[in-house]
Amino acid sequence: MSSLLRFPEDFTWGTATASFQVEGGAKERDRCIWDDFCRWPGKVFAGHTGDIADDHYHRYKDDVALMSGLGLTGYRFSISWPRVLKGGVGEINQRGLDFYDRLVNTLLEAGIRPFATLYHWDLPSDLQRVGGWAARDTVYRYVDYVQTVAGRLGDRVHDWITHNEPWVAAFLGHLYGSHAPGWGDLGLALQVGHHLLLSHGLAVPVLRELSPGSQVGITLNLYPCYPASDAEEDVSAARIQDGFSNRWFLDPVFKGRYPEDMWALFGNQVPRVEPTDLSIISRPTDFLGINYYSRHLVASDPESPMGIRSLHPQGEYTAMDWEVYPQGLTDIVTRVHRDYAPAAMYVTENGCAYDDVLTEDGKVHDASRIAYLRAHFAAAHRAIAQGVPLKGYFVWSLMDNFEWAYGYSRRFGIVYVDFSTLQRYPKDSALFCRQVAQANAVEEP
Ligand code: FCB
Repeated sequence: MSSLLRFPEDFTWGTATASFQVEGGAKERDRCIWDDFCRWPGKVFAGHTGDIADDHYHRYKDDVALMSGLGLTGYRFSISWPRVLKGGVGEINQRGLDFYDRLVNTLLEAGIRPFATLYHWDLPSDLQRVGGWAARDTVYRYVDYVQTVAGRLGDRVHDWITHNEPWVAAFLGHLYGSHAPGWGDLGLALQVGHHLLLSHGLAVPVLRELSPGSQVGITLNLYPCYPASDAEEDVSAARIQDGFSNRWFLDPVFKGRYPEDMWALFGNQVPRVEPTDLSIISRPTDFLGINYYSRHLVASDPESPMGIRSLHPQGEYTAMDWEVYPQGLTDIVTRVHRDYAPAAMYVTENGCAYDDVLTEDGKVHDASRIAYLRAHFAAAHRAIAQGVPLKGYFVWSLMDNFEWAYGYSRRFGIVYVDFSTLQRYPKDSALFCRQVAQANAVEEP
């Protein structure tokens, strides 16, 4: 018989979403860079847009009721900058801010702790027109925006995430071009990454002042990087991959410096850094959010730009073609705990896309997702058993939604959404999550 793995008493079980991916209500807000990107032919699957998405903007009450029915105790959502400030600067859109006010109150009434992410990639288009995150001025506009949001919600939201996955915003958006705004320039991407981090550091004291007693952190997408063999070239390739994927963001936030090996490798593409920037970026925070999906298995490849190549090992894969590798979650959080010692950690995202099928009687038997989640919950438990201060776990995602460049073609939800009616159907995995949250325990896989 398998044993029951119990989580710490005050552990938070929740789901995560992001404004552009679920809200819709596009007419009731300003444009953002993802609206523009969706209209760039060939960039987003089948020309899908975020105009309606899950219509969460109008259906948030039902969605909170769903969460509450699942016994979840936390909800991580993001705030849409172009919904809050007209053109991203200056005049406040009261109706937009009212929406978040109502959402937060509804969550609190349901006993669900709101974790608010302040930036999950929907930069106001007007700010992109004047340089976007490549312009240092955007950093200060972000701080003004944070001030507006915290001034309104800071008495009730006590958990703040400044940024979601700056790696993705910087590199997918500005080097690989597969995300908005869609550029392809390493130097630009590195400058954007630096500005995102600087804006994080500047927001920390603003949040502390306007939301007293709150916990402030940042969310990074991290990948454990394993060498493909013991050969020296592969070991050093894995080290470079780790530098690129993980240390480039972890080192500035926790050590106040960029990793030397990567700085040297990036050569004349390195970002412009003002003298006090790194001390601002490394201001103490209360937690680190980790988004974990998969690992990198890395080999040396002299032909590729950084001399490294990620392999596609034999194994199980999700509909994103991401390898299922639960042990990687244990490995990355224990490593971060050892090397960076954040005061606390949350898994702010983990989950999987599969080709779900809605049955005639409105069910989704997503056994693969249940197996995926069970294995990853157990992996988190192993890390806790090793002393990692992991405080909560947010499954990506509450419901199927706009999966960026994949549009609506990838389903990550524990709740199925029929995009023609917008009706929600809890999948079997939602019921599994309810069991886990209620028992605060999971059966060992
Ligand atoms: C993460 C994003 C999130 C979602 C998942 C699948 O990189 O933060 O919005 O798209 O991937």
